[in-house]
Amino acid sequence: MRRAKISIIGAGNVGATAAHWAASKELGDIVLVDIPAVEGMPQGKALDLYESSPIEGFDSRIIGATSYEPTANSDVVIVTAGVARKPGMSRDDLININTGIVKTVAENVARHSPNAVMIVVSNPLDAMVYVAWKASGFPTKRVIGQAGVLDTARFRSFLALEVGCSVEDVQALLLGGHGDDMVPLARYTFAGGIPITQLVKKERLDEIIKRARNGGKEIVDLLKTGSAYYAPAAATVQMAEAIIRDKKRILPCAAYCDKEYGIGGYFVGVPVVLGTDGVERIIEVELDAEERKMFQSSVDHVKELVKTVKV
Ligand code: APR
Repeated sequence: MRRAKISIIGAGNVGATAAHWAASKELGDIVLVDIPAVEGMPQGKALDLYESSPIEGFDSRIIGATSYEPTANSDVVIVTAGVARKPGMSRDDLININTGIVKTVAENVARHSPNAVMIVVSNPLDAMVYVAWKASGFPTKRVIGQAGVLDTARFRSFLALEVGCSVEDVQALLLGGHGDDMVPLARYTFAGGIPITQLVKKERLDEIIKRARNGGKEIVDLLKTGSAYYAPAAATVQMAEAIIRDKKRILPCAAYCDKEYGIGGYFVGVPVVLGTDGVERIIEVELDAEERKMFQSSVDHVKELVKTVKV
């Protein structure tokens, strides 16, 4: 069987860490791409990671590049190119600079890997995934934003600490925009199949939701020089794995919704079935009046943000 090919555009913190997780899961061969201004950096990181393979026991070819030729015919392309935020900045503050970067990247991806599934990680996510879709001309099912898996992972981590149980036993679902905008659904959150509302008091649950919502900012404030990368990279690789191994995982992702949830043509966080074709299905969950209101206000923010980008 031919090995899958994964290209990662942007060999910074998120990109290099995603390469690390993907290699350790033996997902396929990896090409790490960055700009000519940092010639040698993606090649050096790729070579260093490849040299760890005899120790870790994975068979993945990993190369670095500052052009797109080596990425040709990738199965999955992960876009992490752009600038990350610093303390005091919101994700939305990155929009002007990252729009230009993501547009160029997506055009190159479409030219060199016309059949790839593209996973966008660059922020502000809900707008950047829209830019990548427009610039690539890809069908909507092959452009997906990574946000919900990370946001739920943060939520699940904090809940596991609270309940005192394995992180593996906590299941959660979030909708809407990334981070500050996310809509956690307590009704769809369980620990070992037990509704979370039976295990965590409402006031504590509200505090945990707030912490998860600000999860990115908490890390930015601690790091001071950049933003989170271990969990964002792990979330991205979980999505890539679902696609490459055709696992049909149900994961919350930023997917293009038109009639779904009555969104009308934007990328927002919803549960999707991820497989070889990318987004194979969007699942519409039942929402009560309050959940729908929160979701609508999150979607409204995404729409406002997208209207400011020029693709
Ligand atoms: N093509 C390829 N790579 C690019 C381009 C481009 N046009 N423009 C910038 N880059 C590269 C930078 O050279 C840098 O190596 O993208 C990399 C970004 O890496 P970091 O600065 O370490 O940022 P990181 O923490 O990885 O975050 C990247 O993901 O989570 C989001 O908000 C985050 O938008 C940010 C992105």
